[in-house]
Amino acid sequence: MSMEKILELHTVKYENDQMYILDTSKLPSSLEYVKMNNVEDCFDAIKTLKVRGAPAIGVAAAYALVLSSKAARKTSFGEFYEDFKKDKDYLAKSRPTAVNLFWALDRIDAKVIENKDRPIDEICKVIKDEADLIKQEDIMMCRQIGEHGLTLLKDGMGILTHCNTGVLAASKYGTALAPIYLAKERGMNIKVYADETRPLLQGARLTAYELHHSGVDVTLICDNMAATVMKNGWVQAVFLGCDRIAANGDVANKIGTYSVAVLARYHNIPFYVIGPTSTIDMSIPDGSAIPIEERDKKEIIFGLGYQIAPEGVNVYNPAFDVTPNELITGIITEKGIVRPPFKENLKKLFT
Ligand code: MRU
Repeated sequence: MSMEKILELHTVKYENDQMYILDTSKLPSSLEYVKMNNVEDCFDAIKTLKVRGAPAIGVAAAYALVLSSKAARKTSFGEFYEDFKKDKDYLAKSRPTAVNLFWALDRIDAKVIENKDRPIDEICKVIKDEADLIKQEDIMMCRQIGEHGLTLLKDGMGILTHCNTGVLAASKYGTALAPIYLAKERGMNIKVYADETRPLLQGARLTAYELHHSGVDVTLICDNMAATVMKNGWVQAVFLGCDRIAANGDVANKIGTYSVAVLARYHNIPFYVIGPTSTIDMSIPDGSAIPIEERDKKEIIFGLGYQIAPEGVNVYNPAFDVTPNELITGIITEKGIVRPPFKENLKKLFT
């Protein structure tokens, strides 16, 4: 596999009137696209992390509503919208933290309402066009994010990352890995340290997979090795993704992000959060209001594919944590790099 081949992968694709997702839960052992037959398949794919990563979840939800529109009653707008709304509300229950899910569902809903006086087959086409647009915009945003992030990179730098924020989490270049791919395209040598990201190992299974096959200089580390790598002076910046950014710049991202931020501050290493503006939720004043998903204790007890803890033991398994804005050096979006004070400067992105 080469970087060109990795960049051709699609987390979600819609071809010949069929929706497919790349089942990232099977990686790194097998690369498989799975057909989504209905909204229930999409719900399951999001819930079980076959498709994951905030931007990819948004794109998957948008195409799920295309499937919904195909199955909905077409006798009147009222009945069509009732079926559509039921599916939209159902999909909204798949995962709570990444705001891109709700952003994409609301965006399609607004288009349906805007076009409610048109024939239903035309409304179905509007839904499909909007889903395509969401995906196209995601590709463009990832590229722009990459360009902004690249301005912070210098040949030979070491970057630490956590979870997976690349091709396998978004569309094309990804978010926090986009600057790394652009640097590689431009002949720069960046050394990436990828946290394995317990309990579901997105860093080991996905980040290491896509960077290694792209020829990027990547070193996989266990989460508890990040401090040592920083102390050794091997890391000059941390690049991470985000699932929801509150209006004051507090950031919800994969569990363990907060610990990396604390370590980075102690070692005086800049800590950048990277994501599209669709991940910013200006309706939430600060991180305390971000809903944090808690997942099944089996993911920890059978964390490595076999039993690693006694079955009845108490387990705490939040999928995300919130990093307070004071630990964040900058937020890189497709519109540029936002620096503190975040409350004032994030607002400017939307005016
Ligand atoms: O539980 P996941 O795998 O969906 O968590 C993903 C993350 O936390 C990513 O860092 C985030 O969604 C950004 S993806 C570009």
